[in-house]
Amino acid sequence: MSRYKISNLEEYFKEYKKSIKDPKKFWDKIASENFTWYQEWDKVVDFNMAEAEIKWFVDAKVNITKNCIDRHLAKKGDKVAIVFEPNNPDEASQSITYNELHQRVSKMANVLLSQGIKKGDRVCIYLPMIPELAITTLACARIGAIHSVVFAGFSASAVAARINDSECKMVITSDGGYRGNKTIDLKGIVDEALVNCPSVENVLVVQRTQTDVKMKEGRDHWLAPLLEKASDNNTAEIMDAEDPLFILYTSGSTGKPKGMVHTTAGYMVYTAYTFQNVFNYEENDIFWCTADIGWITGHSYILYGPLLNGATTVIFEGVPSYPDFSRFWQIIEKHKVNQFYTAPTAIRALAKESLDYVQKYPLSSLKVIGSVGEPINEEAWHWYNDHVGGKRCPVVDTWWQTETGGILISPIPFITPTKPTYATLPLPGIQAVLMDEKRNEIEDNQVVGSLCIKFPWPGIARTIWGDHQRYKDTYFSTFPGKYFSGDGALRDEVGYYRITGRVDDVIIVSGHNLGTAPIEDAINEHPAVAESAIVGFPHDIKGNALYGFVILKETGEKRDKENLAKEINQHISDHIGPIAKLDKIQFVSGLPKTRSGKIMRRILRKIAEGDYSNFGDTSTLLNPEIVEEIKEGKL
Ligand code: WTA
Repeated sequence: MSRYKISNLEEYFKEYKKSIKDPKKFWDKIASENFTWYQEWDKVVDFNMAEAEIKWFVDAKVNITKNCIDRHLAKKGDKVAIVFEPNNPDEASQSITYNELHQRVSKMANVLLSQGIKKGDRVCIYLPMIPELAITTLACARIGAIHSVVFAGFSASAVAARINDSECKMVITSDGGYRGNKTIDLKGIVDEALVNCPSVENVLVVQRTQTDVKMKEGRDHWLAPLLEKASDNNTAEIMDAEDPLFILYTSGSTGKPKGMVHTTAGYMVYTAYTFQNVFNYEENDIFWCTADIGWITGHSYILYGPLLNGATTVIFEGVPSYPDFSRFWQIIEKHKVNQFYTAPTAIRALAKESLDYVQKYPLSSLKVIGSVGEPINEEAWHWYNDHVGGKRCPVVDTWWQTETGGILISPIPFITPTKPTYATLPLPGIQAVLMDEKRNEIEDNQVVGSLCIKFPWPGIARTIWGDHQRYKDTYFSTFPGKYFSGDGALRDEVGYYRITGRVDDVIIVSGHNLGTAPIEDAINEHPAVAESAIVGFPHDIKGNALYGFVILKETGEKRDKENLAKEINQHISDHIGPIAKLDKIQFVSGLPKTRSGKIMRRILRKIAEGDYSNFGDTSTLLNPEIVEEIKEGKL
């Protein structure tokens, strides 16, 4: 299984060259040597980037769960596939072997079938980080149902919007979830969401918190008794390479979430290949990614990537601060974690606390430590490298996106020399380029440009559910024929990339992508609000925080601004989730707009950052006087 492993820098360059010169040959070899197929492909890749039409391993037949589970059984059925570490350290952790995983996924697959779920149906999974989240997700893949995992921090209306967009037939949730010292009423949130979700026929409920929940007759079923009755004999469905495997929603520039569609074979090959190389995975390593399975990082590097390589993957239910700030380090020690993969926001939050928390544990099992989700600042990089990695573990700063399926730019540990804040070099198969404002490819180094990829790779999303035009417009139109990431990047003199951040209306707060439009929509629904604009500003721990400029309606009555700000945040919590709350809300009488009515966010961003030095060209502003007013009222 490690036939695709790169072993030195020279080999990386060789592989990289090969992958660019003949991508078909490169991926053909990796795909045919490392996976179990029902039938191999007629053509490795078929694509038209201008039309956003991409197919990999055309006409091949495969099931990803056969590759994640069944094929490991003969040699490592008794090996631990999943280690479950509960929120509460006093509760026993669980180890699920590959044999047991096979049995539990097969049973779950049979439950789905018995509830009328068929290949191609969409199933919404809204669960805490418990083994059932992994098992139900894999069970969907086993029968060819398309999973749509929704992060269990989203509100009822956000869940409803996602269920309705892809017309899910079923929801799988739990009676509740534990996160730190909180218990979250997941079933209640689902009930509220389902008031407006006509496509949902059944709800399966996992018992986790033993909370008393309402069960709707005919619609809601406890999962445990169904599993008990189910057979553990299930034949995996034969899937076409391009059959959708899952939908995962991400924020965009309009209020409607984008359901990114990933298909089966390409995603499988790409997550397996990148997991192996980016984490230098070796047999018997214990891998821990702290993301939630509700995000792409969890899909690709808690579930699919590790299991495809027959690895042991840790699922942690809780948070880094509970019961205290040593929780991560205690878990690393307890399970002898070898690869640890987390987000800069968590690193910054932990770095603020006493060093005693981390120094209490030797962390000698660690070999590679990774970062993902947002740019990692130099201070956080060094703290991570010094205190967690003990200066012996390479830091892999991995750049990628929900849309890319897997990591695109990252050091390969022990091979690529690392450089703080640089994601370094593109992985084999990834033809990264920087584009200038005139839409030309930038050849020079030491310049910032828009980061694009000019050739497809197997893990790229294929479309936006139900809206291919939006997919094409968002990713393939700005730079025709190229995939545009929406990120800016700098390339240094040796060709290393440093990601500088989003160049569109997405703001990354604590590693979560937040589109400004859905938040503004939520604020504008407040009866007292006429209009609003959101921008990001730098924050020590979250990376960015949100600053909202809000215009109130002329209602005549004087409202208490402090209360109103609280109400607005509550509104955002109800519509999207607490992650999208604003740190600052400034009430203004107008917003800087161009003659065509577009808000000039650039100016608002500068004000929010407290940088009044250069607002750039403001000659197209319809109301330049407003800038002064906003500046004066800055919070
Ligand atoms: C940002 C997460 C800098 C980037 C896998 C990207 C990063 C967005 C890095 C995607 C990194 C991710 N350095 N920025 N190493 N990794 N990003 O879809 O702006 O949740 O476009 O996928 O996160 O976030 P998403």
